[in-house]
Amino acid sequence: MKSLEELRKLREKAQKDIQARKTSNKAKVIIGMGTCGIAAGAREILKAVMAEINKRNLDVIVTQTGCIGMCEKEPLLDVQMPGKERITYGNLTKDDVSKIVVEHIVNGKVVEDLAVAKLED
Ligand code: FES
Repeated sequence: MKSLEELRKLREKAQKDIQARKTSNKAKVIIGMGTCGIAAGAREILKAVMAEINKRNLDVIVTQTGCIGMCEKEPLLDVQMPGKERITYGNLTKDDVSKIVVEHIVNGKVVEDLAVAKLED
């Protein structure tokens, strides 16, 4: 059992980390990994995202979430560019991933024909 002081320090550190992530100026990719997402192929999409990012040596945060809320459009991924609205892409195949990475993350242009929603933060 950790002392109260240790726990307090851990909590402060966690809060700082969360704040740093919120104010991050990095591009972020969020992949829907709920059961329906996984059933629809989200793991393949995640692998393709990681491969594309590594290949291009991009500094991008990749996270997973449970439910993005549009099962029928799985697999889904969101792209959040710093200071921009969050765009959800759906009905994805592995081949769509490199298009999204190049056009949206590298060139800053939303891939309209794959986008299924736009969220204001
Ligand atoms: S359970 Fe499929 S998007 Fe939520």
